[in-house]
Amino acid sequence: MTYGLGIESSCDETSIAIVRDGKDLLSLKIYSQIDSHSPYRGVVPEIASRAHLEKINSILAEAMDESGIEFSDLDYVAVTSYPGLVGSLMIGAQLARSISLVFGIPIVAVNHLEAHLAVIGLERELPPFPWLGLLLSGGNSSIYLYKGFGDLQILADTRDDSLGEAFDKVSAVLKLPYPGGPYLEAKANVYNPAKAGPNPFPKLLKEDGEDLIRFSYSGLKTAVLYYLKANAENPPLEKISYFFQKTAFELVTRNVRKAIAQTGIRTVVAAGGVLANETLRKQLEKEKERSRFDLFYPGKKIYCTDNGAMVACLGYHLWKQKSFVGLDFKVSPKRNFEQII
Ligand code: KG4
Repeated sequence: MTYGLGIESSCDETSIAIVRDGKDLLSLKIYSQIDSHSPYRGVVPEIASRAHLEKINSILAEAMDESGIEFSDLDYVAVTSYPGLVGSLMIGAQLARSISLVFGIPIVAVNHLEAHLAVIGLERELPPFPWLGLLLSGGNSSIYLYKGFGDLQILADTRDDSLGEAFDKVSAVLKLPYPGGPYLEAKANVYNPAKAGPNPFPKLLKEDGEDLIRFSYSGLKTAVLYYLKANAENPPLEKISYFFQKTAFELVTRNVRKAIAQTGIRTVVAAGGVLANETLRKQLEKEKERSRFDLFYPGKKIYCTDNGAMVACLGYHLWKQKSFVGLDFKVSPKRNFEQII
């Protein structure tokens, strides 16, 4: 049996998990900082790193207690080392160094984005590589070519806002709470599509041909703003939310279709905070039937958000490959960090 500890502190969640054999979750603790950041409607780096520092030791103690194992049972400590807020990543990195030093176990440095995709290993046998990794979160709207553990290449990216960011910004103009994704989804869900007229928002990137795969959501955000101004007397929040989602998700499924056509890869793994959205899950399921590919995404919504379990899970596979780092390993805000070290 292999026991691994996963540490996640890249943004606004402090999280620790203990995983057995890369697939059995023994414990997962997450402290969300949302309440500290919501007055600013965004993550404030200084607040984030201070909160990680305050919470990380108690989260570690709770996770170890729940797991029923001892530190001396651990085979590796995995930690998110990039991309993320540097001050926050350093808190997790320092904890990993201490555990490694005291208990003599190797450190596995993990790419946060890759961990989001590999987390499906906690719910099922991993499908064979290569995969198309669709990552939709607060910081990403991208499609990756994922050929094997530690081998992730970007295939498509956003020109401007990420999808999660668009949800958050649009929900701000609709005066919904932060972070806006779940609130906007709830508004969209109560809209009756049977009485829906034409979509007030234009199709995104309609000028793009089949060869060009990219995301862009800032135009949609502006379109929502103008529509809201034009209907300021009685803003139809549910209708706006419904058509915002419809327009935004159409670009997602279109890009998945293009990525499959371009690469011939028919295994799609979708992940990130926005995958908590039920309408998006359904749209992807429909696209799967239409374009005939294998689709995987975390069943449990807790695995969509930032969490230590995904770090411990990917850490296991990297540990098996002996991808260890020394105590002097670095953290980085860059997502192509592995190409520059
Ligand atoms: O992956 P994640 O937890 O962390 C960051 O990237 O920071 O993603 C957070 C993002 C936020 O923008 C949030 O609004 C969005 O995921 N999100 C959702 C839903 N739940 C969270 N977006 C749409 N629908 C949801 N139900």
